[in-house]
Amino acid sequence: MHLSGKTVALCVTGSIAAYKAVEVARLLKKAGARVLPVMTASAAKFVGDVTFSGITGERVASDMWDPSWKGEMHIELAQAADVIAIVPATADTLARLAQGRADDLTTALVLSARGPVLCAPAMHPRMWEHPATQANVLTLLQQGRVELFGPVMGEVASGERGVGRMAEPEDIVVRLARAVGPGDLRGRHVVVSAGPTHEAWDPVRFLGNRSSGKMGHLVAARAFIRGAKVTLVSGPVALPAPSGVHRISVESAREMQIELLRALGDDLLSADALVMAAAVADYRPQITHHEKIKTSRATSLDPSGANVSDTIPSTALPMVLLAENPDILAGIGEARARGKGTRPVLVGFALETGNDETIVEYARKKRAEKRVDFVVANHANESIGKDETRVWLVSEETVDAFPVMDKARVADLILDELVRRLG
Ligand SMILES: Cc1cc2nc3c(=O)[nH]c(=O)nc-3n(C[C@H](O)[C@H](O)[C@H](O)COP(=O)(O)O)c2cc1C
Repeated sequence: MHLSGKTVALCVTGSIAAYKAVEVARLLKKAGARVLPVMTASAAKFVGDVTFSGITGERVASDMWDPSWKGEMHIELAQAADVIAIVPATADTLARLAQGRADDLTTALVLSARGPVLCAPAMHPRMWEHPATQANVLTLLQQGRVELFGPVMGEVASGERGVGRMAEPEDIVVRLARAVGPGDLRGRHVVVSAGPTHEAWDPVRFLGNRSSGKMGHLVAARAFIRGAKVTLVSGPVALPAPSGVHRISVESAREMQIELLRALGDDLLSADALVMAAAVADYRPQITHHEKIKTSRATSLDPSGANVSDTIPSTALPMVLLAENPDILAGIGEARARGKGTRPVLVGFALETGNDETIVEYARKKRAEKRVDFVVANHANESIGKDETRVWLVSEETVDAFPVMDKARVADLILDELVRRLG
């Protein structure tokens, strides 16, 4: 619920993409926001106001002159809204905003805004490219009072392709959450690693682990909403890249190391923090075969069809010799210690089996050995692939134990500690 307690004035203008604003309203409600729907006269030709009042549970405001409204509609809505979203924003509305006009409720509301204003333009690519529209966009950007999100390249209503398609509803909601979020990571670059690594044995087989990547993806998503620029280096996972986050996909531990070092930069100066949530494989096959290793099973079936591979002498079975992978986090911890710096803040994870005491003890040891600021410790069987987990935050000075909670909440706990350490 990243919009709990927030109020969004959702202004819908007369684009064919107006129907997508219904989904934005639904997602905003789902994220915990109060949504105050506003519609222009043109928008009402595309979508009925009953749809918006039904979804938001609020009366749709459209006519500033409505005599049944006591007081000044635009001022009261501006006062109530933490953020104003114009979704979709037509070329016409952008033009009137650039001129500072206030001839309808949406434009008057924007002029009276007390918080951020986000526009999601949507129009035919030729309308978007037109010098008049581009000049209006430039004026709005120069004024710095309105944030434009999109339009994006893609198919538009006419079936043509180009830049003019409205940004996706999910991405708009994330931008709104960021606009009204705590902003305590604004100006920071947070690097996150996530997921397992796959260590190739031959073109079809690999050594890997059961990490889903959920925790790392949530840390990245929450860091973006809290204002950070986020680079996510992820092993193979079945998750979409979090909105707003630059995701780099890798396969093996050594690829992950290269991409993390690139993101952290020479002397580790390009990032403020590294959250190492990936479950990096400790070992890889010494040799990666370029051809698929043939199985001996086909020849080891006896005439009755029974599998007799258990009786094959072990010398006839393929052997996998292992090589140790680099300890990425320890290497970075060591480099930071060598430079005698405190940046980036380093966060490790310890996913272990055993009882609570041994898990915390292991996390303490791991923190000291890898020279990181704190370690997030948890039980493998309570965490892998799950949406909830129970963690300890283990630093040099303290061990904080937390109850079972949603991984999104855990992500925020980690980021709270990060913010505290970044000062
Ligand atoms: C079928 C139809 C589709 C339209 N689609 C768009 C659109 O996607 N983007 C846009 O900027 N204008 C579009 N327009 C034009 C606007 O509706 C028109 O400029 C109107 O004055 C916008 O008013 P408003 O910005 O106050 O809602 C469309 C008009 C029609 C009739």
